[in-house]
Amino acid sequence: TKVAALISGRGSNMEALVRAAQDPACPFEIALVLANKADAGGLATAQAAGIEALCVESKPFGKDREAHERAVDTALRERGIEVIALAGYMRILTPFLVDAWEGRMLNIHPSLLPKYPGLDTHARAIAAGDAEAGCTVHLVTAGVDEGPILGQARVPIEIGDNDHALAVRVLKEEHRLYPAVLSAFVRGL
Ligand code: GRF
Repeated sequence: TKVAALISGRGSNMEALVRAAQDPACPFEIALVLANKADAGGLATAQAAGIEALCVESKPFGKDREAHERAVDTALRERGIEVIALAGYMRILTPFLVDAWEGRMLNIHPSLLPKYPGLDTHARAIAAGDAEAGCTVHLVTAGVDEGPILGQARVPIEIGDNDHALAVRVLKEEHRLYPAVLSAFVRGL
């Protein structure tokens, strides 16, 4: 199954997917890495791994988010992409892309959804006095960080934790969770 990873930055989750796909038993292939920002560090990582790395910059489209998404969608379809894995893709999607890829677009979010959609998840979990944090892979629907949950991983919050330390520990779990959930999802298609 041909998967495109959509990124906006560092792309460590994308890298984890790429690494998993190198196993011959893996049911998915990362056929394209697409970024909406030219300075996304993950583009170089993907290229070095021999994967097509494409930038469809969102900036020139200004407020016309749908026009940008149409350009993205065209690039994906031209390459026969079957599933989208959002991996640190920092754009709020319009109904155009959400509807076009309904049931075929996954996202990873650094909290135990439905808790803490949006940004600053770790600081919010610590401030709330939660005993644990974690990450969630879910199907993308119209609501931001909503949509059916496909898998979660939990990480204890330690006494004296700060959001940076917690983010590092959760990220490690993200790198395990995303390939596992994507594999199971693709097997079920
Ligand atoms: C991850 O924490 C992901 O859960 C969130 O943004 C971060 C992206 O990191 N959506 P990376 O670009 O995958 O390294």
